[in-house]
Amino acid sequence: MDSLEEIARLVRHCTDCPLSAGRTNAVPGEGSADAEIMFIGEGPGYQEDRQGRPFVGPAGQFLEELLASIGMTRQNVFIANMIKCRPPQNRDPSPSEMSACSKYLDRQIELIDPKIIVTLGRIALSRFFPGESITRVRGTLREKDGRFIYPIMHPAAALHRQDSRPVIIEDFKGIPAVLDQVRAKLLHSPVAANAPAQTPPAKQLSFFE
Ligand code: URA
Repeated sequence: MDSLEEIARLVRHCTDCPLSAGRTNAVPGEGSADAEIMFIGEGPGYQEDRQGRPFVGPAGQFLEELLASIGMTRQNVFIANMIKCRPPQNRDPSPSEMSACSKYLDRQIELIDPKIIVTLGRIALSRFFPGESITRVRGTLREKDGRFIYPIMHPAAALHRQDSRPVIIEDFKGIPAVLDQVRAKLLHSPVAANAPAQTPPAKQLSFFE
């Protein structure tokens, strides 16, 4: 898989797990190939399945408001999901569905090589930190395998629980500072200064361990 377009094509034709049988459209993800920020949600819901695009339902509307609050749009970032097909009744994706789908997300991350990955909710958090509690780590920058991860709660949480809304807004407002922090670390890393452009310097570093 050499490009995001190729991944999207393969995702749309994928039959590697039973979710493919129930989909209207697969949802590969979308946004800028040069994005510094990549968002990872859980999986498509009703609207996403109908339209083949990530975060276009009520949670997506809130995500767009959150992006606007930090002066960004969907076009500036990349938005993906853990799984690319909608599970029945929007249930949590199963471990086998996530494992069948992970090759696509893994390659999207490699190709985009974002400076930070913002995980939305506990399912996306578990990809990087299995067993970790979202309430414990939300709003704090972490590093895993050379990638910088900023976990926040899922925007859909605010639709069910009003008290989570200000928490999500607050954590989201932290994104520009976190991005600056990571940019500065990469800039001042001796590895970054000498590395060819394709080599992500963050992979050499371990700031948070
Ligand atoms: N929730 C998600 O996790 N992803 C979407 O694309 C939409 C809602």
